[in-house]
Amino acid sequence: METVSHDLLIIGAGPGGYVAAIRGAQLGLDVACVEREDLLGGTCLRVGCIPSKALLESSEHYVTAKEGMKEHGVIVGDVGLDLPALMKRKDKIVRLLTGGIDGLFKKNKIKRYRGTARFVAPGRVVVEGADAVEITARHTIIATGSVPAALPGIVMGDRIGTSTEALAYPEVPKHLVVIGAGAIGLELGSVWARLGAKVTVVEYLDRILPGMDTGIASIAQRLLKRQGLTFRLSAKVLGAHPDGDACVVEVEGAEPIHCDRVLVAVGRAANTAGLDLPAAGITTDAKGRIPVDEAFRTSAAGVYAIGDVIGGAMLAHKAHEEGIVCVEGIVTGHGHVNYGVIPSVCYIDPEVASVGRTEDELKAAGVAYKAGSFPFKANGRALALGQTDGEVKVLADATTDRILGVHIIGPRAGDLIAEAAAAMEFAASAEDLARTCHAHPTLPEVLKEAALAALGRAIHA
Ligand code: NAI
Repeated sequence: METVSHDLLIIGAGPGGYVAAIRGAQLGLDVACVEREDLLGGTCLRVGCIPSKALLESSEHYVTAKEGMKEHGVIVGDVGLDLPALMKRKDKIVRLLTGGIDGLFKKNKIKRYRGTARFVAPGRVVVEGADAVEITARHTIIATGSVPAALPGIVMGDRIGTSTEALAYPEVPKHLVVIGAGAIGLELGSVWARLGAKVTVVEYLDRILPGMDTGIASIAQRLLKRQGLTFRLSAKVLGAHPDGDACVVEVEGAEPIHCDRVLVAVGRAANTAGLDLPAAGITTDAKGRIPVDEAFRTSAAGVYAIGDVIGGAMLAHKAHEEGIVCVEGIVTGHGHVNYGVIPSVCYIDPEVASVGRTEDELKAAGVAYKAGSFPFKANGRALALGQTDGEVKVLADATTDRILGVHIIGPRAGDLIAEAAAAMEFAASAEDLARTCHAHPTLPEVLKEAALAALGRAIHA
């Protein structure tokens, strides 16, 4: 087997790995990346964030065409669904974006190896697959991401699968049971409910969207119910199995649920399978994650890890930040990720977005805070859009007025949260946000009004 050598070797071309590779090349390193899938971009681009957003958009158009145009005075005839065309559009978007990363690799002269990487020693990796080769590298970054978590008692198969299968069902299910009311379950549950499936979400906790602001999550649940989703909260799934052309989901202390498809969305687990980490001298923690220090160094000299495989928020943009900071740390010796300002978005309708700490977290930490909320229904732009559900909540320190958290449910919340993140990155106060001139009429005015509300002086309340 041929042996080659590079300055920086990255294992995995997901959002953490491919960004780290590009940053490494920008900083003058000779970079290689091993990826076993044909398409670059990882779960996010191939079977995660991007295809799900494409389906969410298409399914929203379907619902709007069927039910949402009348109030605008637009009369639409019979509305039909062409599921293969909808899937084709999604696949095209995925191909475009993953192909774009191929282009970026070429532009930055990043050497790509196709295959599965396995450590034989720290800084020494064997690639098995199309490009069978042994690679030595001064620095190695493990960016292998995560895989859907399994649930004991669930027999995975044709009709019982993960988000990967739910992105490509060949027909609209009659009854889809979603196990887990996190972002994946609610986004994909929404897609299939909009396309005509009966959707039942079974969640172990007494609430949906764990980790999000409790008040905002309960508004989300009410709005999703209005869209036809059924929730079974405080319900523990014990198992699921196929039954001919159908499936049965066993719920603790309740009658089993009969359905024709099951989506298991109970979280994700670090993906280290096949890496032979012990050969590099690395031991995973109890949850299978790779322990790292603040510079993403593992216990093996010259070996780093970033993204889902080290735990924390399993979000593409968190992995991006870690990839960049890790490589800059290797080259310059400094850099850090501000974990207090990592936004998170759930793309249901309306979107839910959040950055910073929730009221529950502030209460638990004994931090004195003030809160201001403002509804979209009092905003001119939201009214014109016909999207008036939801609100913005700004939390600020009771003494210093520094913004501690912003939580949004409403139209384009995922875009609106960027202003809050930028404000928090600059350590803004609620007063700063309130005194920033916002164009009128726009949705971000709701953010300004919520900041004013935190100061006790909202104008349009
Ligand atoms: P999650 O951890 O957010 O939610 C899983 C839910 O399953 C939890 O509420 C949990 O209580 C429930 N659950 C676990 N065991 C159960 C059982 N036996 N019976 C019933 N309910 C049970 O996980 P999810 O939605 O799978 O997402 C995985 C990761 O991917 C998360 O970190 C998420 O933030 C991220 N992600 C983010 C997206 C976004 O930002 N838009 C989209 C998709 C995923």
